[in-house]
Amino acid sequence: MSAPVALNALDVAALRQDFPILTRTVHGHPLVYLDNAASAQMPRPVIDRLVHYHSFEHANVHRGVHTLSQEATAAYEGARDRVRDFIRAAHREEIIFTRGTTEAINLVANSWGRANLQPGDEVLISELEHHANIVPWQLICQERQARLVVAPIEADGSLLAERVVALMGPKTRMVAITHVSNALGTVVPIREIIAAAHSRDIPVLIDGAQAVLHLSVDVQALDADFYVFSGHKLCGPTGIGVLYGKRHLLETMPPWQGGGDMIRTVSFEQTTYNDLPYKFEAGTPPIAAAIGLGGALEYLQGVGIENIAAHEARLLSHATGLLQSLPYVRLLGTAPHKAAVISFEIEGVHPHDVGSVLDGEGIAIRAGHHCAQPLMKRLGVPATARASFTFYNTLEECEALARGLRVVAELFH
Ligand code: ALA
Repeated sequence: MSAPVALNALDVAALRQDFPILTRTVHGHPLVYLDNAASAQMPRPVIDRLVHYHSFEHANVHRGVHTLSQEATAAYEGARDRVRDFIRAAHREEIIFTRGTTEAINLVANSWGRANLQPGDEVLISELEHHANIVPWQLICQERQARLVVAPIEADGSLLAERVVALMGPKTRMVAITHVSNALGTVVPIREIIAAAHSRDIPVLIDGAQAVLHLSVDVQALDADFYVFSGHKLCGPTGIGVLYGKRHLLETMPPWQGGGDMIRTVSFEQTTYNDLPYKFEAGTPPIAAAIGLGGALEYLQGVGIENIAAHEARLLSHATGLLQSLPYVRLLGTAPHKAAVISFEIEGVHPHDVGSVLDGEGIAIRAGHHCAQPLMKRLGVPATARASFTFYNTLEECEALARGLRVVAELFH
């Protein structure tokens, strides 16, 4: 049994001071930033880490005998150790730096998929998936004459483990499922899904892009085979992401991209490949972004993911209550287990108009299909408005959102 986690109420006012962007105004109003599912903001220690690296440490990694290259290499590899610790991976060589979640899934689909999928095989995904966890599989399935199988969701946006398990069959070669839906906030019972897949010898890839800031992730306890996420949704920089993969799987996978760093020896006749993790990191990596991600994880570990989750649960409950009290608001996605994401429609108003009016009030939300067009089709809407919260948001900002929606209704109704 793991030790109980001590929950500390966050000092949100103090934490907000770490985020320079939260002091700005938009159209004359204090910024209310509720688009955290698209990208979370960066705190001062991460910005300072990036400035320090660019000012005093920058050099290429793994290539130089000179001091700067050695310092840059130590900082880059230190970030890898931080990621390993953050997601509790067993080995540092199981952490591959990529440009983001999308590139990480493309890497697995191309490398693992090309080596393992045969005509007639199936890749099992769900109706909740982001395009990044649909299209790479669709492409490799087309190439390998394999088939994409899609598990259905419930009317409230839940994804039941039994619906996914029911579609696992003798042809299923991979299950690729989101941990948390970016569009609806649904938390998926991945532990049950992974256990059921493993009892049939099927590996599982988890798209953790929307989970890692909001839920404590232990890839070993989950027993995930692959777990992928992006830096910019974790208060880190854009252009950096992570592919975690179990070592024995990564070892048997062929390289995806070729170039520098991923080789051991090259001749015109034959190339031999580097050890993990470098076999999958061709070319000069996003050094600064990786170091920035390491800084972001250090910051978040200081705040505490469990504390973040508890604060976000309070925000979700408060904002949901406020929006439900507005008769012209319809919530989409009301699964019992949700992260702090609220998708909604306002009767008779296009979500883009909702987003524009709110922007005029200084409130940033996302409006659109959220890179989940099949999910929108399933819900019978072209798009939704989406407010997404995190640890630096306040109860007052939930109230500002509700006030903004009253302005929308007054303008359009
Ligand atoms: N995937 C990001 C979102 O949900 C961009 O907004």
